[in-house]
Amino acid sequence: METITDKRKMQQVCEALRASGKTIALVPTMGFLHEGHLSLMRIARQSADIVVTSIFVNPTQFGPNEDLAAYPRDLERDKGLCASVGVDYVFAPGVENLYGNRYQTYIDLHQLPNHLCGLSRPGHFRGVATIVTKLMNITKAHRAVFGQKDYQQVLVIRQMVSDLDMDIEIVTAPIIREADGLAMSSRNTYLKAPQRESALSLSRALHKAQEMVSSGMRHSSQLIDAARSFILSFPETAIDYVAVCDPLTLEDIAIIEGSALMALAVRVGSTRLIDNTILTRTSAINP
Ligand code: PAJ
Repeated sequence: METITDKRKMQQVCEALRASGKTIALVPTMGFLHEGHLSLMRIARQSADIVVTSIFVNPTQFGPNEDLAAYPRDLERDKGLCASVGVDYVFAPGVENLYGNRYQTYIDLHQLPNHLCGLSRPGHFRGVATIVTKLMNITKAHRAVFGQKDYQQVLVIRQMVSDLDMDIEIVTAPIIREADGLAMSSRNTYLKAPQRESALSLSRALHKAQEMVSSGMRHSSQLIDAARSFILSFPETAIDYVAVCDPLTLEDIAIIEGSALMALAVRVGSTRLIDNTILTRTSAINP
């Protein structure tokens, strides 16, 4: 496994690989890797000759009052984990290398960011769409793998790839959870012991909502009320949003007819956590 920190070097390496007929899969990450990230790399490993994992804490997707400076970082540990799942290249550039100081081009979507995390994190998806495009252009990947944990992010990227006719296949991978149901996240490391308990309220609320749907409940407002009061019964929780919406457009839905996305963002202490599931009228879920 090789680590590359310069974007032009990475581009040259990928160009040569492409010219020699190799397929390239990209797994974009912000590092501080966990099993969720590694699951994406394993999928990438099975689907391409060459796997590139990018590790870059992207400043343009953080708001002014968010955790950019505090975001956990451990590149040496991350490299070991990448090597353990067969990654070929770690691309770990600095901010200066990737953006320079006269950077001025951004990608804006006009509908999908007007929901869920886009409302509480203005500019977030602009930063995500921009960095992901840059990473795709640098690595010339044939496909890229993203986790359903960041459901809205995958929708934004799929929409952008379609709108801009980008020649890349987007693969979505399921949410990887701790044994007790907590969705894995680099931000879980911020949680102190009692907060870790409260963090379980997210996956449990989703589970309860699916149980309600399975037993015939169709009204989103009742699912949302039940989830809100359940989550708020745990110490140190504050709700950013609880939504039941269309899985493709993210528009709110009032009555569940087929399947619906239930998405949550909750602050536990000062740590913002997200989780989601597809509610279905027939089968059960296992968050
Ligand atoms: P990051 O939060 O590091 O996540 C990188 C990828 O790992 C994303 O596709 C995310 O959905 C996936 N992931 C995180 N936790 C997961 C889990 N528990 N199960 C499955 N997949 C999981 O998302 C970002 O970074 C950034 O926005 C990025 C796309 C790299 C752009 O900067």
